Amino acid sequence: MFDECVIRGRHFVPARFCAPMAGYTHSAFRRLLAELGGCGAVWTEMLAARQILSENFSTSPWLRRYSPEQRTVFQLMVRAGDPFDRILNRLGERGVDAVDLNLACNSMCVRACEAGSALFENLAALRTVLSEVRSRWPGLLTAKIRLGSRCRDWQPRLAERMRLLEEAGVDAVILHPRFFEDKFKRRARHELIPWVASLTRLPLIANGDLTGPEPVQRQAGHFRSACAVMIGRSAIVRPWVFATWNEPVHLDIAEIWRKMCQYIVEDFPPAVAFRRVQMFTKYFAANFAFGHQFNVEVSNAPSLESGALRTDFFRARPRPSLIPRSQDCKSNRLRTASFCRSFRTVMSRGDRREDIFLDWRGTGALGLERSLLGLPIQE
Ligand SMILES: Cc1cc2nc3c(=O)[nH]c(=O)nc-3n(C[C@H](O)[C@H](O)[C@H](O)COP(=O)(O)O)c2cc1C
Repeated sequence: MFDECVIRGRHFVPARFCAPMAGYTHSAFRRLLAELGGCGAVWTEMLAARQILSENFSTSPWLRRYSPEQRTVFQLMVRAGDPFDRILNRLGERGVDAVDLNLACNSMCVRACEAGSALFENLAALRTVLSEVRSRWPGLLTAKIRLGSRCRDWQPRLAERMRLLEEAGVDAVILHPRFFEDKFKRRARHELIPWVASLTRLPLIANGDLTGPEPVQRQAGHFRSACAVMIGRSAIVRPWVFATWNEPVHLDIAEIWRKMCQYIVEDFPPAVAFRRVQMFTKYFAANFAFGHQFNVEVSNAPSLESGALRTDFFRARPRPSLIPRSQDCKSNRLRTASFCRSFRTVMSRGDRREDIFLDWRGTGALGLERSLLGLPIQE
C-alpha cells in the first residue's frame, strides 16, 4: 500500500511522507532521512513565513537542502496580511516547488498570531490567505489540518472548510484526525478518513499515530481513501521506518545516532546544536533498553563536547540488527503493538560488555531469536 501517488501531476514514490515537526525536521534530520531512503517527501518544520525573507537558503538549518532528489515540502505558518508575493517569490527563486500551509497548530503563540488553528477557524481570513497564496504560487500547495474544534457542529464546520480548500485550488490536504483540543491525547480517529475524503475531490494524506506498515494494513479499509500516509513521531524514534517498510535492512542504530549528532553539529550553532541533540535523543532513546539512562546522561551533559556525547557511549560497534518486515512480524505474532519489535545488539559501556535487548515496548518472542542471530525471520 502507498507505493506511489500523483498530486498535481507530480509523482511521489513511495507515497509515504515524513511529517513536519518543529525542532526535529530540520536540514540535518532531512539529510539523515535522505540517506536512509524510502521516504517519498519530507515536510520542513513549520516556518514563520515572514522569516523566509531574511533567511539564508544555503546555510539556514531550516531551509538548507542537501539532497536535491529528496522532495521537500516547505511548511509555512501564515496569517492574513503576510507579504505573500515576496515570500512566495523568494521560495520560487530558490528552487522550492512545494508549499504547505499549517492550519493545524493550536499552540498559544501560533494562535496569538492568528495562524494555525486560529486561521482554520476564521473562515474569512482563511479565504483571503488561500486566495492570495494560490494566485501567487504556481507550485504544489497543500494544507495540513485537524478535525477542528471539538464542538457540536464540528462536522459541518469541517465540511465547509474542506469545500473552501478545494475551491481555493489547494492540491492536497493532510489530515491529522484529532481535534485541536486533543493535542496528542486519545487516539487518531482513522475511521473518519473515508468520511473526510468523501467531502472533497482533493487527495487526502493520512496522518496520526502511524508507526509503520502494520497499523495501515490492519486498518486498510480506513486508509483506502487516502492517497498517501504521513508519519511523525515514529520517524524520529526510527528514522529508518520508511527504508524498512517493505524490506528488512541491516542497521547500525548507534551509528545512526552518531550521524544525526554530526549533521546537527554541522548545521547549527553550538548552543542550538546541543539542544537539538538532546531533543532528538529523547525520542531516539526509546530504541534502547538503557534508553532512559542514555537520555538522562545526554540531558544532563554540560556540553556537546562532554563525555556523554562522545561516541564512546557506544564504544563497541553494535552488531547490525535485522529489522523484520511487517509480514514477518505478522507471521511471528509480533503484531500486538506497532513498536513491537526487538533487537539485541552488543554494546559496551566502559569496559563492561553487555548483551542488551533493544526493546520496543514489549515484544513477543518468536522470530526475535533469529533476528538476534542476524538470520532472516521465517514466514
Ligand atoms: C515535536 C512535534 C512537533 C510538531 N511540529 C509540527 C509542525 O511544525 N507543523 C505541523 O503541521 N505539525 C507539527 N506536529 C504534528 C505532526 O506533524 C503530526 O501531525 C503529529 O505528530 C501526528 O502524527 P504522528 O502521530 O505520526 O506523530 C508536531 C508534532 C510533534 C510531536
